[in-house]
Amino acid sequence: MKNSLEQLKKEFEEMMKKVTDRAALEQLKNEFLGRKGKLKSLMADMGSLANEERKTIGQFANEIKETIETVYGKKEQEIDAADEGNREAREWIDISEPGQFPQEGHLHPVSQAIAEITEIFSRIGFASVRVPEVDFDYYAFESLNMPKDHPARDDWETFFVDAPETSKGKLVLTPHTSNSQVRTMETTAPPIRMINIGRCFRRQIDVSHTPMFHQFEGMMIDKGVAITHLRGVLDYFAQTYFGPKRRTRLRPHHFRFTEPSFEVDISCDVCGGDESGNCRLCKSGWLELGGAGMTHPNVIKAGGLDPAVYSGFAFGWGVERTLMMRSGIKIDDIRVLYKNDLRFVKQF
Ligand code: DAH
Repeated sequence: MKNSLEQLKKEFEEMMKKVTDRAALEQLKNEFLGRKGKLKSLMADMGSLANEERKTIGQFANEIKETIETVYGKKEQEIDAADEGNREAREWIDISEPGQFPQEGHLHPVSQAIAEITEIFSRIGFASVRVPEVDFDYYAFESLNMPKDHPARDDWETFFVDAPETSKGKLVLTPHTSNSQVRTMETTAPPIRMINIGRCFRRQIDVSHTPMFHQFEGMMIDKGVAITHLRGVLDYFAQTYFGPKRRTRLRPHHFRFTEPSFEVDISCDVCGGDESGNCRLCKSGWLELGGAGMTHPNVIKAGGLDPAVYSGFAFGWGVERTLMMRSGIKIDDIRVLYKNDLRFVKQF
């Protein structure tokens, strides 16, 4: 019995030498001193010993137990000290190591264009306005010199809202941003220089149309505003947004809310305005941007101003279209802008 106990102590001391960490230390302690440990199972045999012998063996067993505990205690201190010493090494961080960046998104190309257009016009004093995108017939058509049932309205494939008619007519999803014209004159005293960028809706879908799209509408109202001012603003925009070599051209057109009215063209980026008809892209030297004109006296009147005193100009065209005409951007189907395909969107 005594031998077995001695044996146990030796075994413990031997194994203890190999222990280097806390987990192994705990495990070893359990193995020898635990409730189901080796010492306990040896002692279980004590019952068969004579009284006298049991006493001496008991004492001896206690001594062994104490020795084991002392060895354990020492080892524990050693491990703690070593842990403390290693701490610096364990907890060292290389602060110069490149971090792991979270995936970052960015604004949609159309939102980028809106921000850029807003900024370009703000530099020449055009204040950004917001007007309803679901608006009354009055602001979308009637106040723009388009009386009820006027055939010109058919040009806008309008969505009407199924709601009771009001004194300002039916509600429509704005088919253009020109509803901002009279709305702004109603709330702002001249001189007015405003830019309104908003969503528009029309019943159309093909390679160059989506039922929801954006337009930007500019308007200037003051005393003595002339076509030359309009030209200056259009050239400024074209050269800032598209590049210094681009030029604009006004072509006579008809809109009910401007007189005279124009279609605004921009010189083609590929041929630089070659009118021979040989350019593969434009076939005429020019690309069509959108509409513009001198504000019709009836519109100025609808805005509560006297057309004998005030004059102005307005222009309006599509954001998506403008974006697509920028050099280097080759989008041949407008619908791709709204497909939510990351492979496309990530290129911007
Ligand atoms: N609202 C017109 C459209 O959607 C574009 C337009 C033409 C706007 C002439 C204007 C303008 O401000 O003066 O087709």
